[in-house]
Amino acid sequence: MKIAIIGTGYVGLCTGVGFASKGNNVVCVDIEEEKVNKINSGVPPIYELDLEDMLKDSIKSKNLRATTKSQEAVSASELILICVGTPSDEKGRIDLRYVNQAAQDIGTALKDCDYKVVAVKSTVIPETVESVVIPILEEYSGKKAGDGFGVCMNPEFLREGSALKDVLHPDRTVIGEFDKRSGDVLERLYKNFNAPILRTKIKVAELIKYANNGFLATKISYSNEIGNICKRLGVDVYDVMKGVGMDHRFSPHFFSAGAGWGGSCFPKDVAALIEKAKELNYEPKLLEEVVAINKRQKVRMVEHLEKRVGDVKDKKISVLGLSFKPNTDDIREASSLDIIKSLVEKGANVFAYDPQAMELMKREFPHINYTENVAESLKDADACLIVTEWDEFKKLKNEDFDSMKTRVILEGRKVLNKDDVPEFDGICW
Ligand code: UDX
Repeated sequence: MKIAIIGTGYVGLCTGVGFASKGNNVVCVDIEEEKVNKINSGVPPIYELDLEDMLKDSIKSKNLRATTKSQEAVSASELILICVGTPSDEKGRIDLRYVNQAAQDIGTALKDCDYKVVAVKSTVIPETVESVVIPILEEYSGKKAGDGFGVCMNPEFLREGSALKDVLHPDRTVIGEFDKRSGDVLERLYKNFNAPILRTKIKVAELIKYANNGFLATKISYSNEIGNICKRLGVDVYDVMKGVGMDHRFSPHFFSAGAGWGGSCFPKDVAALIEKAKELNYEPKLLEEVVAINKRQKVRMVEHLEKRVGDVKDKKISVLGLSFKPNTDDIREASSLDIIKSLVEKGANVFAYDPQAMELMKREFPHINYTENVAESLKDADACLIVTEWDEFKKLKNEDFDSMKTRVILEGRKVLNKDDVPEFDGICW
């Protein structure tokens, strides 16, 4: 199938490369010329597992190319996917400026085209496709949805670090369709993906994405709440949730307690859902508490630290792990940001180390110390906080901590093994 993808960020590029690897003919559109040139020369503008090899293969097989010319890309395609970013505004509401722009560009191109389907993959709050995207497409194309062009909502469920695997092997594909004709085009694309396809209304598909991320965030905050009780009882929350996860009514995944969730999706999506609920005159108390638990969880590490070492002023604190999760350099809403902010405010001497995320963190905290390796960060430290569960930290042994001034080791993620490092203390274990 000939597909145009508007926006070559994380979702757009990984989706495009995934579809190209399945033999589709993909053209990726972005306004940034530099990005487009990089993609065409087989260099991904972001880091993601397997992306570089698969991008190079797609370019070689001529199944993928990038361009800045949206009109030409739309004209040449049967299906157009909107994959632009949907950031939050200052109040946490969804900011639709990129979606609006994409819809205008596509609408303009549709004016002189035969029937095509426009599918929104960007995460958009319920009612956006029907009350914002379709009216723009109709205005700029001069055509009617369902007649001149088709419309679908096709949410993505990609995780950073396993995005290509998630594109190629989804748990399910959700197709919110304006009408049957529109949905049939998407079904044709997805039928060889070996995953169940759920065809539904556009508004339902929009909400599935938010309900999905909201529930995952809730699962983690629930685990953290139980974890904080566990800590007071002197038990390990992982032992407890192992038993809970064995109930066939739950999945055992996403019960890992720790220093709270972060990243580019959960915080923004839960915030946008809360704002939308309020707009609909509903007070979403559960979701608000999910966010509040998460916020408290991040600074709880510093409170634990103070219980162990007292005032942190002028103490050397080693912080291991800065990215919001392992295998990415992404620090958006990472727990390390709140932890370092609090440590800096309290006058601690922070020595931070991360395998990938230090360059980005330097922009946020230019005045703390960054070390070349774990050993340098630990040397003479009064305490160590492990914030992200990188494999490199899982390999640490008791003797690696010998160079610390005092052996206070606190984990915000389950990393160390009691047999290897007997003296560590966890946030909920
Ligand atoms: C998430 C969703 O999983 C994905 O479906 C959606 O499309 C985008 O948002 P991502 O942000 O890449 O993906 O990361 P994810 O692996 O879901 O982790 C989110 C946060 O939750 C991370 O901070 C992670 O450390 C934390 N987490 C995850 C936990 O604290 N405990 C868990 O059990 C799982």
